[in-house]
Amino acid sequence: MATVKVESTADSTDSVDIDAFVGAMRVQAAAVNLVTSNGPAGRTGVTVSAMTSVSAEPPLLLACVNRRSPSVAIIRQNGVFCINALSAEQSGLADTFAGRPSSGHPFDFEAAEWTNLTTTAPALVDAVANLDCVIHDIVEAGSHTIFIGRVVGAVHRNVRPLVYCDRTYLAPGPLKD
Ligand SMILES: Cc1cc2nc3c(=O)[nH]c(=O)nc-3n(C[C@H](O)[C@H](O)[C@H](O)COP(=O)(O)O)c2cc1C
Repeated sequence: MATVKVESTADSTDSVDIDAFVGAMRVQAAAVNLVTSNGPAGRTGVTVSAMTSVSAEPPLLLACVNRRSPSVAIIRQNGVFCINALSAEQSGLADTFAGRPSSGHPFDFEAAEWTNLTTTAPALVDAVANLDCVIHDIVEAGSHTIFIGRVVGAVHRNVRPLVYCDRTYLAPGPLKD
């Protein structure tokens, strides 16, 4: 089998300016999720757009959480988390779990209804999808901790997802002809 040699310039090339990076990421359209956890270390939830699937067999996904967030230590110790993909009607919850609610208290679980799937992590009722995970691996990468979860419970509903792009919440719809 042919092999391809990749010349790495990783060490010799400077990182791009942070403003340029943030600007290029800001215009990416991303689904909005709450990462929640509950267990011996307590209950927590945080809004994240940095979530994606990793593998189908076994079913793995990842979520990136800023190491400054208190959620990081809680998720790590609980060993479980749930990804709750928000619907277009749930932008208020995205702000609540980003610590900037337009009304009510930040990070307040009373702002929504919750259930459980397989683990003790809170699963948001009426979310587009709940993906209940046990921690498969944890990778430290720069400012963020990457939680890789093995999915042990999954449900979804046919409602419109919430999207975040250019600091604005959007609901995707079909292109017009
Ligand atoms: C739409 C949206 C997406 C976000 N995505 C992420 C993310 O992927 N990872 C992350 O660490 N923080 C993300 N945040 C920011 C955190 O939700 C927010 O900084 C955090 O909840 C604040 O917690 P703290 O006050 O405890 O620092 C996002 C916020 C919003 C509004």
